[in-house]
Amino acid sequence: MPAIRVHDKNFDVYLSEFEIQQRIKEMADAINKDYKGKKVYFIAILNGSFMFAADMFKCLTVESEICFIKLVSYKGLKSSGDVATTIGLDEDLHQKHVIILEDIIDTGKTMHYFLPKLFHQQPASLKIAALLHKAEMTQYDIPIDYTGFVIPNKFVVGYGLDYDGLGRNYRDIYQLAD
Ligand code: IMP
Ligand code: MG
Repeated sequence: MPAIRVHDKNFDVYLSEFEIQQRIKEMADAINKDYKGKKVYFIAILNGSFMFAADMFKCLTVESEICFIKLVSYKGLKSSGDVATTIGLDEDLHQKHVIILEDIIDTGKTMHYFLPKLFHQQPASLKIAALLHKAEMTQYDIPIDYTGFVIPNKFVVGYGLDYDGLGRNYRDIYQLAD
């Protein structure tokens, strides 16, 4: 498969569409088994997880609801972009079985910020499904219950993931070329 160029950088194929779809099917099978007879409330984190959420959702056989939320960070003076607020989470999660769908967990800062907000609503259970995990970069103790792929600390794009807004449209996942 050809390499791609996004903005000023070159990327090589890292995970093929086939590998991604196969792994998502396995993750969904595990969820279908673990939640058999229960209803699951999925919370997908925008923007990055829209493709993952859609493909995962098509493989689910358990009763499932989904909502999409956005975690907005203030950028500008500080480039660190701390997570500041949540948009779109108006559902009451009390006594619900909740699974968060996240495209990638890197430092873990996003989830570290978000999890207490959800626990506060006292869900019946709360788990995380992440397609990608940069395990060596994660600085917080985040319990990831369903992991697609543990990947090295290299920037990736495609399949919903972006580099400065671009690159989300590819079916494969690409890694920054050396
Ligand atoms: P964390 O808060 O450091 O765990 O970062 C999570 C978020 O950073 C993800 O939801 C992505 O939006 C973004 N991110 C982290 N690594 C990458 C990458 O390699 N490519 C694209 N986005 C990334
Ligand atoms: Mg994201």
